[in-house]
Amino acid sequence: MVCRHKALHMVSVFLLFAPHPMVTLQPLTHITFPSQRPQGKTPPPPPSAPPRARPLQPKPIAASSRSTARPPAVTAGVGGGWGREVHRINCWNRFQALRMKLLMVLFVSTIAGCCAGSISSAPRLLLVSFDGFRADYLETYNLPHLQELIEDGVLVKQVTNAFITKTFPNHYSIVTGLYEESHGIVANDMYDPDAKKKFSQFNDSDPFWWNEAVPIWVTNQQQRNGTSAAAMWPGTDVRINNSTPRFFMKYNFSVTFEERVENIIRWMNSSDPVVNFATLYWEEPDASGHKYGPNDTVNMRRVLEQVDQHVGFLTSKLKASGLWDAINVIITSDHGMAQCSPKQLIVLDNCIGRGNYTLIDRSPVAAVLPKNDKKYVYNLLKQCDDRHMKVYLKEEIPDRFHYRHNKRIQPIILIADEGWTIVQSEGLSKLGDHGYDNTLPSMHPFLAAHGPAFRRGFQQSTINNVDIYPLMCHILGLTPQPHNGTLSHTKCLLADQWCIHLPEAIGIVIGGLLVLTTFTCIVTVITKSRVAPPRPFSRLQLQSDDDDPLIG
Ligand SMILES: *[C@@H]1O[C@H](CO)[C@@H](O)[C@H](O)[C@H]1NC(C)=O
Ligand SMILES: *[C@@H]1O[C@H](CO)[C@@H](O)[C@H](O)[C@H]1NC(C)=O
Ligand SMILES: *[C@@H]1O[C@H](CO)[C@@H](O)[C@H](O)[C@H]1NC(C)=O
Ligand SMILES: *[C@@H]1O[C@H](CO)[C@@H](O)[C@H](O)[C@H]1NC(C)=O
Ligand SMILES: *[C@@H]1O[C@H](CO)[C@@H](O)[C@H](O)[C@H]1NC(C)=O
Ligand SMILES: *[C@@H]1O[C@H](CO)[C@@H](O)[C@H](O)[C@H]1NC(C)=O
Ligand SMILES: *[C@@H]1O[C@H](CO)[C@@H](O)[C@H](O)[C@H]1NC(C)=O
Ligand SMILES: *[C@@H]1O[C@H](CO)[C@@H](O)[C@H](O)[C@H]1NC(C)=O
Ligand SMILES: [Zn+2]
Repeated sequence: MVCRHKALHMVSVFLLFAPHPMVTLQPLTHITFPSQRPQGKTPPPPPSAPPRARPLQPKPIAASSRSTARPPAVTAGVGGGWGREVHRINCWNRFQALRMKLLMVLFVSTIAGCCAGSISSAPRLLLVSFDGFRADYLETYNLPHLQELIEDGVLVKQVTNAFITKTFPNHYSIVTGLYEESHGIVANDMYDPDAKKKFSQFNDSDPFWWNEAVPIWVTNQQQRNGTSAAAMWPGTDVRINNSTPRFFMKYNFSVTFEERVENIIRWMNSSDPVVNFATLYWEEPDASGHKYGPNDTVNMRRVLEQVDQHVGFLTSKLKASGLWDAINVIITSDHGMAQCSPKQLIVLDNCIGRGNYTLIDRSPVAAVLPKNDKKYVYNLLKQCDDRHMKVYLKEEIPDRFHYRHNKRIQPIILIADEGWTIVQSEGLSKLGDHGYDNTLPSMHPFLAAHGPAFRRGFQQSTINNVDIYPLMCHILGLTPQPHNGTLSHTKCLLADQWCIHLPEAIGIVIGGLLVLTTFTCIVTVITKSRVAPPRPFSRLQLQSDDDDPLIG
């Protein structure tokens, strides 16, 4: 895969250069040559994290234009006499020959180096989620292990996740590339009116809920006879389309991070079978984000430093088993976290009697199933608190949420404003929460990645989390299922793709033109200084001057 792309690019570069005696602009900076990654120094494994407080509520413009602006040919020898002309052409030819040779060498060595690397090892990918890792934690806290990975890989500073910004829905969007209405996991708590079934994060094993989509770990095993493994991730312990990952762990929040990683290493370090796709899931910093609230920077710093220790543990284990340079690692998350407050409550009991409706899902996006008259319930809810909460009939839910076309989305939904909590009468139970509008920066996670498929030291401001699926399929060489993502959004992250930003492209063109103009000027000056201008020209010029009425 990687090889074929690089080879193709080299061929096109070669073809563009070779047959034209012209100055051809090439974005040479974007040709990436295969390079052996230096064997990273292996830091000693960090001291194992202190016993973790168990969470109470376990939760599981890049235009690819090649910008081959071809300025007009620089023709050699303007009236330089035959002898000089021939000499110049000889020089030019020799220069051309040299350049072609050089390109040939680069071309051949690229193919050789690249194919040698990729034939022996099929592309492999480890997808990691640290639940509830808000994008700006990366800037607020000192996280050296994560930063080290980013410096040698890529970073997407903010990932726009799917609405509602909850755990199960977004983990499934990441591995299917689908919006929630299309993959069917529309909340952590759901009710299906046709099947009359209920779903919750503690009762999530019925395949019925998951079968509206096919996650990448299933496609990987069905399409290419790959082997998938999972040290947890919502859905990985469920028989989706009749199969689970070949290796998986039953979800259990008491299993330590270290134990999950040991399993990953054992699976990925085996050659029979070769595990080419694996997932790894960890409940922090989500659990602590709910408990303390993201504004409690003292507690959040402690938790994030533990998360960073976990990243360090993972990388040191991968290095120790020789996997670090061979596999691709994506570290991302499902959502961020907003600060809540007991002063920001929307109390439903104040405006509507409980006998009117069933509350399927609570806060911050409440799913309301009216018992009788939908319009009546809607009107009562509308009067509840229209300053801090939006009330939508299902058919009015804004298009941008892509959250309407599924029977598991209830007839009325209430969306609290950032930091507000919808309750019936109870008090505030969590100081931090998520689920809010997916355009809020506080709801966004980040994405970092490292490995042979990725550029090194590249950063990008944003992608959508549904774009991660086509990216992963590209890396694994899988034909994706129908999805809502866009591969070109992630092109700049990939080592085998061309990536030129518009400003950069303009810069290259302008820079090229400047160089060309300068070159032309120099040639002209040299030519003029050596050869007296031929007579006819001066005469013509004089004549035209004579005819000019302004001068005359
Ligand atoms: C889980 O959900 C199924 C189907 O809705 C239901 O039959 C079962 O009783 C539930 N189990 C628990 C432990 O709630
Ligand atoms: C698929 O892989 C398994 C081992 O992972 C192997 O036993 C089987 O023969 C393979 N099937 C095909 C069609 O390659
Ligand atoms: C589900 O699995 C079967 C094989 O078990 C396969 O033929 C089918 O295409 C899969 N469905 C989807 C939607 O991929
Ligand atoms: C969950 O993991 C813990 C720690 O490994 C173990 O003691 C417990 O039995 C597990 N629970 C289940 C239901 O497997
Ligand atoms: C949380 O912190 C942010 C930024 O520091 C601040 O704007 C916001 O008011 C705080 N929220 C609460 C509920 O204290
Ligand atoms: C991984 O496999 C290599 C070679 O098979 C072996 O030398 C190494 O000890 C293994 N590492 C672990 C952590 O199992
Ligand atoms: C519905 O809510 C209204 C307004 O609070 C209340 O008067 C009425 O009794 C409720 N109906 C039922 C069936 O609970
Ligand atoms: C998302 O993708 C699915 C599958 O292709 C498609 O049915 C659905 O219409 C798409 N949604 C949007 C908003 O394009
Ligand atoms: Zn989550």
